[in-house]
Amino acid sequence: MTVASFFDSMDYAPSTEDDSAARAWLASHDARFGHFIDGAFTKPAEGFDTLEPATGNPLAQVSQGVTADVDAAFKAARRAQKGWAALPGHERALKLYALARIIQRNSRLIAVVEALDNGKSIRETRDIDIPLAARHFYHHAGWAQLQDSQFAGYDPVGVVGQVIPWNFPFLMLAWKLAPALALGNAVVLKPAEATPLTALLFAELAQAAGLPAGVLNIVTGDGETGALIAAHEGADKVAFTGSTEVGRRIREATAGQGKSLTLELGGKSPFIVCEDADIDAAVEGVVDAIWFNQGQVCCAGSRLLVQEGVSDVFHARLAERMKTLRIGGSLDKTIDLSAVIDGAQRDRIAGMVDRAVAAGATLVQSGDVPTTGSFYPPTLLRDVPATCEAATEEIFGPVAVSMTFRTPEEAVQLANHTRYGLAASIWSENINLALDLAAKVQAGIVWVNCTNVMDAGVGFGGVKESGFGREGGREGCYDYLKPRAFAKVSERKAASPMAAKGFSLDPVDRTAKFYIGGKQARPDGGNARAVVGAKGAVLGEVGEGNRKDIRNAVEAARGAKSWGGKTQHNRAQVLYYMGENLSARAEEFAERISAQTGAKTDKARAEVAASVSRLFSYGAWADKVEGTVHMPPMKGLALAVPEPIGVAGVICPEESPLLGFVSAVAPLIATGNRVVAVASEAHPLSATDFYQVLETSDLPGGVLNIVTGSTETLGRELAKHNDVDVLWAFTTPALSAEIERLSVGNLKRVFTDHGRAWDWTSPEAEGEHFIRQATQVKNIWVPYGE
Ligand code: NAI
Repeated sequence: MTVASFFDSMDYAPSTEDDSAARAWLASHDARFGHFIDGAFTKPAEGFDTLEPATGNPLAQVSQGVTADVDAAFKAARRAQKGWAALPGHERALKLYALARIIQRNSRLIAVVEALDNGKSIRETRDIDIPLAARHFYHHAGWAQLQDSQFAGYDPVGVVGQVIPWNFPFLMLAWKLAPALALGNAVVLKPAEATPLTALLFAELAQAAGLPAGVLNIVTGDGETGALIAAHEGADKVAFTGSTEVGRRIREATAGQGKSLTLELGGKSPFIVCEDADIDAAVEGVVDAIWFNQGQVCCAGSRLLVQEGVSDVFHARLAERMKTLRIGGSLDKTIDLSAVIDGAQRDRIAGMVDRAVAAGATLVQSGDVPTTGSFYPPTLLRDVPATCEAATEEIFGPVAVSMTFRTPEEAVQLANHTRYGLAASIWSENINLALDLAAKVQAGIVWVNCTNVMDAGVGFGGVKESGFGREGGREGCYDYLKPRAFAKVSERKAASPMAAKGFSLDPVDRTAKFYIGGKQARPDGGNARAVVGAKGAVLGEVGEGNRKDIRNAVEAARGAKSWGGKTQHNRAQVLYYMGENLSARAEEFAERISAQTGAKTDKARAEVAASVSRLFSYGAWADKVEGTVHMPPMKGLALAVPEPIGVAGVICPEESPLLGFVSAVAPLIATGNRVVAVASEAHPLSATDFYQVLETSDLPGGVLNIVTGSTETLGRELAKHNDVDVLWAFTTPALSAEIERLSVGNLKRVFTDHGRAWDWTSPEAEGEHFIRQATQVKNIWVPYGE
């Protein structure tokens, strides 16, 4: 070819990145790797090949982590963690800073190894994955430096098990490791079986950077190794990114182990193009949304929702743009798309596309794909039936599905019509419309007139079945910390209601009913149970709740959605009013506490006073729950807005029947959630007496619903209910475990003390920790400035 011929065709010449350094690095290990445990590589053991997706050739052999490896890694991590956490923040900051520097110094090598092992383009690894990974270490070096002042009262969680996927092997590693290490945790991390190499390279670099032995351990292997890590008793926390299906399995496997858990799972994120959008910008946005990384992005804008009036022009320009996308080998610097992870994934993508076409979708595809390796062309499926699998399931490939909408309301309905809630992208030149849609879409991340932008300082994570927890920034740090105040706890026993002495049937029905939808309601089954006081006398009866009662209560709570839209001021006023009304009845409530628990009068009065104070505290918090304005190093701002989670189930603690109840429900109400509370089983009358407080306050019906009966029966029902978005469980260790297990249906967030009773009278049993558990942050990226 002559230079002139390039001018004639205006095409790119291939420009291949030099891979000799990467190959030399592999050769220096004889292309065989052991695990990295306690600061050294183990001898390579039986394992599997990792392949080069762009050619199908084997790159190296890695070891399959077995129980003994995982045990050794956790042992090393445990040994190292104390000393690591005890280092002054500045010392840890220096180490994190050294990791960032060593990544930058070796960025070309890492970028090439990543492109070879994953199949993604060198352009992306070089310009996005690796620089952003370095930024994660820089950013979190800062949190290590500031830890004492910014996270006073918090300790590191301890030893963390981390399992990551193959789509961003190095970036995801940085994303997981940087906060964990910065805040004084030690880690056992497993990279995905398809892409283990950059993790092993990083281990070597970390060693060179002087990271103490045992603080970071890398165990390679497949899902079985992942399962060993997630369920390991040496892990105080598990952080997982990957498919929703595996996320569910991990939720089940860790249930009852007292671990903290964050799950960053799949998505089917909407990309909404309004009729007043800048169409060219939106078309370019689609390129970044769904063809970046071959669409193997959890937050990919994979569902295009286009307003009818601009649908033709938008799709025409998109089809034109698709023709210019270049597909080729991962080391070619001029290509837009490279190989997907492997042949199985390519076949899976192809199968979903074929089925969508068979169901009536129109196929738009372009680009010649190489015949070797696992390539799939950029694809658009138009007019996909809304119920078709391609429209609802994560394809995880370069395939966008598109539908049209008529009104913004319809766009919101379509956007939210999914079990996922990771991200959304909104394109409109009208700020009012864009921000109105941003408020209404159910997603952890919203991009206005941009897409797929991320930063180490901005929280990332989803809602609904996209998981829970946030990674990045201050928000993400809390997921690697635990409040010191809750360290001193005692194990909670099962409720042991006293047996009635001399039970006599009262001709007048004094059974306390339930409180559902702002009204007192009889139990569905018509059954009641006696409430026996500390001295054995029957104090009254309460209804025996069942599944139907829980269903009714959840329905009432769902119906009270407008509570979340009330002003913070309004919610504050209601809580103050509740406090005032409780205070007016203080003596009655104190007597009731004494009668139920046998508490001395002074103690019972103190519990009432503390409950009044707590209601006032949450009234105070209600209009002080604020978001943050993140200023990432790119054009624009990210507005971190804490939102209510939705319908909350609460299993109230047995101890402190009034204060426990108030402490558990008030933070949820203050932040705009609606609550279904199961009262203390042994001492339910403080909660049922509370109806009078509710009836004289201005809390709208359905915001707080109260059911009594067996905690076990009702707790299970709440855990299984798919319309319950979050569950707070202050119950026995056994029931907490079961609740965590049963929560997998809709992957609801569970906040539990794992059966270890806190001291509710402590001032630390209120405040920000509870507010954080009652909210989920939506990060809204908006254009700002030049
Ligand atoms: P996966 O969820 O199976 O794998 C992710 C990681 O979890 C890997 O390290 C794997 O070894 C590990 N793992 C697998 N089973 C495990 C278990 N039982 N316990 C603990 N760890 C386990 O994802 P996979 O199979 O690689 O991809 C399948 C589909 O999942 C993709 O087509 C895509 O739809 C989705 N996916 C979503 C990702 C996301 O970021 N949201 C990332 C990767 C995959």
